[in-house]
Amino acid sequence: MAGVAHSSLCLTLLIVMITISSPVSAQLSVSFYGNTCPSVFDTVRTAIRSAINREARMGASLIRLFFHDCFVNGCDGGVLLDDNGSFVGEKTALANNNSARGFEVIDNIKTRVDQACGRSVVSCADILAIAARDSVVELGGPTYSVPVGRRDARTASRDGANTNLPSFSHNLDDLIRVFSNQGFTEREMVALSGAHTVGQAQCVTFRDRIYNDANIDAAFATSRQANCPRPAPNGDGNLAPLDPQSPNRFGNNYYQALINRRGLLHSDQALFNGGSSDSIVTMYSNNGNAFNTDFANAMIKMGNLNPLTGSQGEVRVNCRRVN
Ligand code: HEM
Ligand SMILES: *[C@@H]1O[C@H](CO)[C@@H](O)[C@H](O)[C@H]1NC(C)=O
Ligand SMILES: *[C@@H]1O[C@H](CO)[C@@H](O)[C@H](O)[C@H]1NC(C)=O
Repeated sequence: MAGVAHSSLCLTLLIVMITISSPVSAQLSVSFYGNTCPSVFDTVRTAIRSAINREARMGASLIRLFFHDCFVNGCDGGVLLDDNGSFVGEKTALANNNSARGFEVIDNIKTRVDQACGRSVVSCADILAIAARDSVVELGGPTYSVPVGRRDARTASRDGANTNLPSFSHNLDDLIRVFSNQGFTEREMVALSGAHTVGQAQCVTFRDRIYNDANIDAAFATSRQANCPRPAPNGDGNLAPLDPQSPNRFGNNYYQALINRRGLLHSDQALFNGGSSDSIVTMYSNNGNAFNTDFANAMIKMGNLNPLTGSQGEVRVNCRRVN
């Protein structure tokens, strides 16, 4: 019977190993608030609609905020924490300082959700995840499900944000590395970059490109230079659309712009610059359905990055500070 004992021990070990190695994200579920806050999805959707009606760009800003949350210690609402005299958070990290926006909208939604459900039970991290999805949909992009149950961090990491978030000056190798560090393939990286179909960038992020890069359409460079003077800091905050055709409409135009050498950021054009991602860009520019499907799946995957669950972290009362 030693063989039976041995094989059942093996089975037990196998089960233990599967349990230990299964991702924490398995605990996220669309029905997590089914009893405690059943109206959370309706409340967020309504609030996102009015926020985008007030300012179309806000949808883009919230999609980006979700990305910047998830790439730093996972989707834990860390990006939402305010700095104060004794606390340094992520808001002043390179990619966020004077750039990340939408915090007031998240505050407002948190207040509405807590009112609707009678107490503070939905995390700020979940509100941001739902807000990002609803923004994609409201701007005309694909829908996807948002499993919830994330809890909010009691810490944040400016160093982590500086290390993990990509820069506008990155080349293809840098971009592949930054996304691969979070478990994303090159194709998923190119799909997620398609979020630049919406929103705006500040002159400080593309000045170098429009004056110095060679891989840029000349007429496009000239037209962008008109609103982004040299030298810095002149016009540093002046805005230009990341997708020249339709900055408030979610679609695959962004990829066609890259093929036309009209990527606004150096990092955008790096995706179509004679390297391994050219074929992916071409494919997405020809196949809006493939882009929508891959983008939605990659957003779900991003939402699964290291969430705090169970009794980890907390459900913040105020998204800007730990309880
Ligand atoms: C691939 C590497 C990426 C780089 C280097 C990058 C960099 C940037 C930069 C520099 C801006 C302009 C910020 C400013 O001027 O204030 C920006 C805006 C934006 N990014 Fe990215 N990004 C990347 C990937 C992503 C991803 C994966 C998403 C979301 C899934 C995203 C969503 C956005 C959106 C929607 C905006 C416009 C925000 C607004 O109008 O407020 N980006 N990005
Ligand atoms: C963030 O921006 C402010 C205002 O431009 C600047 O004074 C500050 O030094 C920046 N913080 C960091 C950490 O770069
Ligand atoms: C500063 O922020 C941290 C993190 O939110 C919080 O724990 C702390 O109470 C805040 N301190 C003050 C003085 O507000």
